[in-house]
Amino acid sequence: MRLEFIPYGQQTIDDDDISSVIEVLRSPWLTTGPMVEAFEADFATYVGASHAVAVSNGTAALHLSMLAAGLGPGDEVIVPAITFVASANAARYVGADVKFADVDPETFLIDVESVRSLITPRTKAIVPVDYGGMPCDYSALQSLADEHGLVIIEDACHAPGAEYQGRRVGSISSMTAFSFHPVKHITTGEGGMVTTESAELATRLRTFRSHGITSDFRKREAAGTWEFDQVDLGYNYRIADINCALGRSQLEKQPTWVAKRREIAAGYTEVLRDVEGLAVQHEPEGRLSAWHLYPVRITGPEAAEVRREVYTRMRADSIGVNVHYRPVYLNTYYRQLGYSEGLCPVAESVYAGLLSLPMWPGLDGASQERVVDSLRQALADLRPV
Ligand SMILES: Cc1ncc(COP(=O)(O)O)c(C=O)c1O
Repeated sequence: MRLEFIPYGQQTIDDDDISSVIEVLRSPWLTTGPMVEAFEADFATYVGASHAVAVSNGTAALHLSMLAAGLGPGDEVIVPAITFVASANAARYVGADVKFADVDPETFLIDVESVRSLITPRTKAIVPVDYGGMPCDYSALQSLADEHGLVIIEDACHAPGAEYQGRRVGSISSMTAFSFHPVKHITTGEGGMVTTESAELATRLRTFRSHGITSDFRKREAAGTWEFDQVDLGYNYRIADINCALGRSQLEKQPTWVAKRREIAAGYTEVLRDVEGLAVQHEPEGRLSAWHLYPVRITGPEAAEVRREVYTRMRADSIGVNVHYRPVYLNTYYRQLGYSEGLCPVAESVYAGLLSLPMWPGLDGASQERVVDSLRQALADLRPV
């Protein structure tokens, strides 16, 4: 008998979410209407930020942050090797060069000493990625950024609800980017957000979000004018009211969902932390992960071969394990720019053993047990003691 498939992540949509979207479909505004502002206000409150700018996806959030920070050709941007390609691509969109920082072997997060070693007079920004939902070491990164006059553009696409020394992710860095793709904590279908403390950056983000134009249709209607001015070369990175209504409804459930993710993570950690040949992601003192992923690292000799076999066996057990991520610079596009193997040795060795276990709020105890049993069995078969 084939067991029910357990995906590594999935969205949760209830009747309230559906009603919220239907309400917008019956309203006069499908896009750039009251729901966008309301979602921005709700999200800013949730993360404790002064400003939130909603956009079409997380990649647009990163790209707009680069533009708002004034980054361009000749500038260098430091990005961790282990992340989704979008964190680095955003720097490329504005013509900046990417410097890949190595990661910490226990947290799998950007290594501050590696960042320090990469800083040159051309360095303008650091893009720490809260990988899996775990916040990076922001006090060390901020001191480094202050020392060298760098801007921090935090990629928190995995981390709404995470906390660093009592502060919510989204209220820490100069700009913080979020994604609302269906596999993330909350979804708008496609969507993203940038949060910031700076009114000036928020204005720049809003302008770049809509072609570089300084007003939107509703504002012009209210002011009784047709005139607008395009002051910069922007994009259409707007998000619709339909999506934002879904986002608002999802956000109401987010605190419960993060609590549930923490409970599931604690369950995994409890049973997996002492398994021979396996390391769980370390959550340092003073940090609370939002657990978008639950990544484990297969350690020891031939980790890559063991990981491949464990992946295959768990998939055969109908468990949707996944791998996040191969070091970005090993993708063909970046290889063609001249990056190659050996650039970030820790990231390469972490990647060799990485495996993301199923993690979403609806994952029940029986499913979690199946995941753990399948993983343990695969490891015991492959590495008998
Ligand atoms: C770390 C990270 N950054 C950026 C993104 C891009 O977000 P989006 O898919 O909403 O464009 C993702 C999405 O998977 C991500 O995981």
